[in-house]
Amino acid sequence: MKNENILKHKTKIHKEDRENLLKQKGCVLWFTGLSGSGKSTIASKIEYNLHKMEKLTYLMDGDNIRLGLNIDLDFSPESRNENIRRIGEVSLLFADCGIITLVSFISPYRAMRNSVREKIGQSFIEIFVKADINICRQRDPKGLYLKADKGEIDEFTGISAPYEEPLKPEIVLDTEKMSVDESVEKVIDYLKKGYFI
Ligand code: ADX
Repeated sequence: MKNENILKHKTKIHKEDRENLLKQKGCVLWFTGLSGSGKSTIASKIEYNLHKMEKLTYLMDGDNIRLGLNIDLDFSPESRNENIRRIGEVSLLFADCGIITLVSFISPYRAMRNSVREKIGQSFIEIFVKADINICRQRDPKGLYLKADKGEIDEFTGISAPYEEPLKPEIVLDTEKMSVDESVEKVIDYLKKGYFI
């Protein structure tokens, strides 16, 4: 065992102390869905609105994190699991800081999302950003579906790699029926009702 001689260190200041300081509850808003489903657009607008409400937030987005912390990872199942494992650990730390943490990754594997849920507990809020693959293909904001359909991208989620829908997400945002503003409102209402803000 690599960590047999490592003991957990106790701190004097805890999550609740930081939350009292910030007047909010640290949590993880975990957005999952296909590429082009609207995760980043919705998460970014929620962050903007929360900031205007003087709440401390931080948004982590798959594309950005893959250019830094996770630059060593590709799109194989192993790398995607490691991507989510690392970001699950980072988001746990952020939520422990008392920050409203928004995480926007495809996170295609149910088992991996559930293991992050187990680790984070009550503060984990899974948000399924729902859109049919054909709608995502029509939207194709980055032109990636076109490339994937031509066989130019391997293991593309929804085409040549799986996406496992959440079975019991806290929130479903049906982006074919709801506007971005309606989705934003639904999430902010959830935070208010749960006394996170
Ligand atoms: S995840 O599956 O590991 O959670 P992540 O959210 O970090 O994915 O990254 C997804 C983003 O990478 C997509 O929005 C897209 O822009 C880009 N991308 C590049 N190659 C692929 C691929 N093979 N499958 C899915 N997304 C890809």
